[in-house]
Amino acid sequence: MTSQPAKAPAKLGRQPIKVLVVGSGAREHALCWKLAQSPRVAEIIVAPGNAGTVGGDRGGLAKVRNVALRPNELGAIVALASDEGVDLVLIGPEAPLGAGLVDALAAQGIHAFGPRRVAAQLECSKAFAKQFMQRHGIPTADAAIFEDLDEARQWLVDHDGPVVVKASGLAAGKGVVVADNREEADAALLRIMRDGIFGEAGETVLLEERMYGDEISVLAFCDGRTALPMPAAQDHKRIFEGDRGPNTGGMGAYAPTPLLDDAMLRRIHHEILLPVINGMRKEAYPYIGVLYAGIMLTETGPRVLEFNCRFGDPETEALMLLLDSDLAELLLACVEGRLRSDEVRWKTGAAATVVLASSGYPGSYAKGAAIEGIAQAEADADVRVFHGGTRWDGDTLRTAGGRVVAVSAYGVDLRDALAKAYVAADAISFDGKHLRRDIGWHALAKSPQPSQDNISQTGVPS
Ligand code: AMP
Ligand code: GLY
Repeated sequence: MTSQPAKAPAKLGRQPIKVLVVGSGAREHALCWKLAQSPRVAEIIVAPGNAGTVGGDRGGLAKVRNVALRPNELGAIVALASDEGVDLVLIGPEAPLGAGLVDALAAQGIHAFGPRRVAAQLECSKAFAKQFMQRHGIPTADAAIFEDLDEARQWLVDHDGPVVVKASGLAAGKGVVVADNREEADAALLRIMRDGIFGEAGETVLLEERMYGDEISVLAFCDGRTALPMPAAQDHKRIFEGDRGPNTGGMGAYAPTPLLDDAMLRRIHHEILLPVINGMRKEAYPYIGVLYAGIMLTETGPRVLEFNCRFGDPETEALMLLLDSDLAELLLACVEGRLRSDEVRWKTGAAATVVLASSGYPGSYAKGAAIEGIAQAEADADVRVFHGGTRWDGDTLRTAGGRVVAVSAYGVDLRDALAKAYVAADAISFDGKHLRRDIGWHALAKSPQPSQDNISQTGVPS
């Protein structure tokens, strides 16, 4: 969007606020569910939302309603926020952040929770992120960056060892090839740079050292100066059990993960999160919103795989069940640059999310199947079913996307949370339902007698 003369940001005071949530996934439903509990929130508009955020009797959430606008209709979203007198915009997906939605809202004096376009490059340009990490000494895989196919292919000839090929731009989670040998890496380069399978997103490519270790997701609330980590989560990206098959948006998640203790979370805070926030501020891109660090716990310590500039999906569907604090107050503290560690409280225990997907996802899949059993699933007060690809057809709920619902459960520990999530997941039925039965298995196998004592619950490292 073109830059416009900036209006002073509106004063928020203590009055009830109207929130606009941008996005349509289970992540956005979970955020709306948590926001709706806040006495500070008078109304929530969702653009475009899904069947879980329609409000009224069918959606089940008071204060919430959908507006049929796509997240990439930036001008229309700004106009809606302005016409409706929205006080705060919460942006779910990365694309509108990368396209400058926060900048466009700021130009109208409207507060938004999310980074500006330049700061969102941490996710939208892997080349930017890599060079930023190199400038600021943030641990990550070594990488070479190429805009020329022949130079990239020559690098492969000159360098031995396993390599990871990454399209720099946004490629819907498909732009990374972990190659087992040089031939595979070369073939990936040709597909990305010669055949242009990711379009512009593949004009710049990274060839990266392969790392080994457990993968975790550390999300942090950021106000431009402070980063407060949430309990560390683990996502399960592959479509099939045992981490096989193609990558998806995420088939399940849980938090906190026993794969790291408080000392490791503190290390991640000091070696990764704070250097990002400080580096961004020094480079005049103050980072406001959620900073999501995809981290590999390697033999030499935590190293960054990637950054996302937003809440993770499905991590958020688990984390919102653990968050004890008022989400609206937290988001306001971030946008007003006054985040304090005592503002973020987490429940003890654990939360787990199991995604129910349409058979065929992440490839092509059928839509329109009737979904049954959500009320039975939610009969357990510790269970919430967050809608993703769903729509109402009269009074019938139907599938409308690849990841249909995220079944989330809170428990006294990870085992308890997973057991409740799977009972609930089994209560829901639709034609072609696909789920992974092994969410959390790796963590449970590594920690047979989970003790809550060594698992971070506070998210407040010192
Ligand atoms: P990214 O989108 O960069 O997180 O990459 C997607 C997935 O590819 C990650 O979740 C990892 O499983 C894998 N991956 C990315 N980079 C590396 C690396 N340098 N070494 C090993 N695996 C990687
Ligand atoms: N769960 C991975 C992501 O949100 O990108």
